[in-house]
Amino acid sequence: MLIKQLFVLASIGLAAVNAQDFQFKETYPEPYTVPKPKAEWLNLIKNSKITNAPPLTTTSSGALVMPNNVAEDPYCTWSFSQCLGPNDVYTCPKGSWTVSFDDGPSEYTPKLLDFLKEKNEKVTFFVVGGQVLKYPEILKRAYDEGHEIAMHSWSHKNMATLTNEELVGELKWTELAIKEVIGVSPRFFRPPFGNIDNRVRDIIKALGFTPVIWSVDTNDWYLTEHADTFDSKWITGNVTQWVATAEGGNSLAHDLYEETVAASLDYIPVLADAFDLKTVGECNTLSSYTNGNGTAINKPEASKSSSAAPTASETSESQDDKDAAVKAQENADQESGASSHFVASSSAAALMVAAIAAVIAN
Ligand SMILES: *[C@@H]1O[C@H](CO)[C@@H](O)[C@H](O)[C@H]1NC(C)=O
Ligand SMILES: *[C@@H]1O[C@H](CO)[C@@H](O)[C@H](O)[C@H]1NC(C)=O
Ligand SMILES: [Zn+2]
Repeated sequence: MLIKQLFVLASIGLAAVNAQDFQFKETYPEPYTVPKPKAEWLNLIKNSKITNAPPLTTTSSGALVMPNNVAEDPYCTWSFSQCLGPNDVYTCPKGSWTVSFDDGPSEYTPKLLDFLKEKNEKVTFFVVGGQVLKYPEILKRAYDEGHEIAMHSWSHKNMATLTNEELVGELKWTELAIKEVIGVSPRFFRPPFGNIDNRVRDIIKALGFTPVIWSVDTNDWYLTEHADTFDSKWITGNVTQWVATAEGGNSLAHDLYEETVAASLDYIPVLADAFDLKTVGECNTLSSYTNGNGTAINKPEASKSSSAAPTASETSESQDDKDAAVKAQENADQESGASSHFVASSSAAALMVAAIAAVIAN
């Protein structure tokens, strides 16, 4: 009798544990494949003007086919010419820095979260659909602990190689999976490999999202793929140089691997000593989340100070967008030393190298 009661109690206990496991309501596409959008999502871009650029092609090994003349890239493709669009966010203003992580969440993310909690610092996570399906509790924890959750696509392919419909699928499925877990839709989207052009930008904008690139790259993925030749000390070495020379920035790293998370525990304090660490939304004064219809909510200031309902100006995205556009344009002008969005052609060869490095890197 007693044993039977214990068994019943144990079963109830087990059920209670299982009940904590996150259950997705939606049936999602296969992780890391290019997903078909729901039919109704296509209506969201129906009335928007989308640049008529041909999807880029890749070689049989998956490498992007570069244009012959990178300096004459008509569609402002970041991964070719490092061209920034007027709404692309890629850095932080003077004195502030975004530490960002792509490709997670992973089983190693909790170690990073523990560390950040101890240091009381906030970072931005650009997450991939399949990883969200695999680790919803970790994503929820990151959000609950004040980190910014943003999108990094469903398939992790080069976005500019996809059709308009496929792009809608990439963004909306990733958004939906995140929203099921954290209750709000992310606003920011980082294209894998920085592969974005004006057509991709137009679709991101039509869906109410904002693209985010990066200003410096830790190259931390070398720790896993070139472990024999890459010294993790180099990352902190590079970070130390950024601290000495950059006014502000947004650093690219990854929380998918044990080694890259371990390296981050070493360099984050160096950045935190020199800069005010802020999420993408905080340092650019943009809301991090939307209601799923492209309307901004949860402005960082508002969420911090009180639970009061946002005012009309806080729910309107137009001012946000204007500010972002102005900032991005100022930054672009500073970088290129010209009013054109294109970077001067004299450095085309260097850019080609940089572009290839960037493509390999992310
Ligand atoms: C910066 O990183 C590169 C490799 O990405 C490395 O060759 C270089 O030595 C590093 N710089 C410092 C100061 O550690
Ligand atoms: C988006 O807008 C439609 C129509 O106004 C509304 O029915 C829907 O609930 C909204 N979705 C979200 C996530 O706010
Ligand atoms: Zn990535």
